[in-house]
Amino acid sequence: MKAVQVTKHGPPEVLELAPLPDPSPAPGQVVVRVAAAGINFADILMRLGLYPGTPKPPFTPGFEIAGTVEATGRSVSAPRGGERVVAFTFRGGAYAEKVAVPADRTWVLPANMSFEDAAALPVNYFTAYQALTYMAGLRPGERVLIHAAAGGVGLAAIQLAQLAGAETFGTASASKHDFLRQQGLGHAIDYRSEDFEEAVRRLTNDQGVDVVLDAVGGSSYRKSYRLLRHGGRLICFGMSSAVGGPGRSLRALAAWWNTPRFNPLDMMRKNRAVIGVHLGEMGRANPALLRTWMEEMFRLYAAGKIKPHIGRTFPLAEAAAAHRYIHDRRNLGKVLLIP
Ligand SMILES: NC(=O)c1ccc[n+]([C@@H]2O[C@H](COP(=O)([O-])OP(=O)(O)OC[C@H]3O[C@@H](n4cnc5c(N)ncnc54)[C@H](OP(=O)(O)O)[C@@H]3O)[C@@H](O)[C@H]2O)c1
Repeated sequence: MKAVQVTKHGPPEVLELAPLPDPSPAPGQVVVRVAAAGINFADILMRLGLYPGTPKPPFTPGFEIAGTVEATGRSVSAPRGGERVVAFTFRGGAYAEKVAVPADRTWVLPANMSFEDAAALPVNYFTAYQALTYMAGLRPGERVLIHAAAGGVGLAAIQLAQLAGAETFGTASASKHDFLRQQGLGHAIDYRSEDFEEAVRRLTNDQGVDVVLDAVGGSSYRKSYRLLRHGGRLICFGMSSAVGGPGRSLRALAAWWNTPRFNPLDMMRKNRAVIGVHLGEMGRANPALLRTWMEEMFRLYAAGKIKPHIGRTFPLAEAAAAHRYIHDRRNLGKVLLIP
């Protein structure tokens, strides 16, 4: 079979399609023939060597796939051979024609769900759900600010925030604002031409917001924190601002350097919470939780209440172009690789 490998840390061109032996299922595993694999921002950080726990190259990146079960290992009762599944791979390996995954990290697809939609669910929707519903407990009438609102997690968050009855604010490049309004975003902010903190103050009569989803990181965390009103929750879940140069650039160092250290006494006085979200660690610590979250996503999907937006698909062999596309901030929603 063929798989994409990060041959060394660096720009998108370090991704190469390579022949690898077909995987065989260990006990408790199934082998899935991949129909679609999701690309996530974490893959970009891993390619650059900026993601904690990145394996040494060469390695195959990617955390989510949808496809058909081709083989099952010993002691696997479900899913069965031939069933259509979505899987969260946890340890990477998704940019491949075939992937071996633990059976208990797969879900059999509802009949009406395409492989593309399924591959766009696990990381984006689990993260948005963990952040907004599980950790922040978003309530009707609250205001939520979503950074990178036109990205994969961002669009999932807009949909879930609307379901919760919240008022939505989102930052994105200006070219994406019309699309975001069509998706139901209440207030679009062009963070590249206007300071987002000032924009939110202007739009809220200086009141601020109740919840912020911030994966830009660095100094953005500080500004987002300042925007919280009493009872507010800042969800810290990424560091996109570390990406800019070709590798471990000065920009990455600046992002880490600018990351604030929050003061519990200040949080107490202002009734604010700072909450960390790491989906992978949550899934490792409590796999049963992810099973219930996917059941909830399937239910919402069937009811027409969530729908992944597939911005673009690329053939597996063009993984480098797909990474370049996200790196250049051109994606609207999910980008998928199709073997
Ligand atoms: N902690 C967790 O468990 C977890 C899980 C999933 C994702 N995340 C994080 O959530 C964020 C969003 O992930 P995603 O997969 O949905 O990606 P995404 O939002 O689709 O990523 C690309 C978008 O991010 C925006 N962006 C902001 N700063 C950027 C920069 N320096 N370089 C490139 N793009 C930048 C761009 O949109 P605009 O130009 O419109 O701003 C770009 O189109 C990432 O930081 C990711 O690491 C964390």
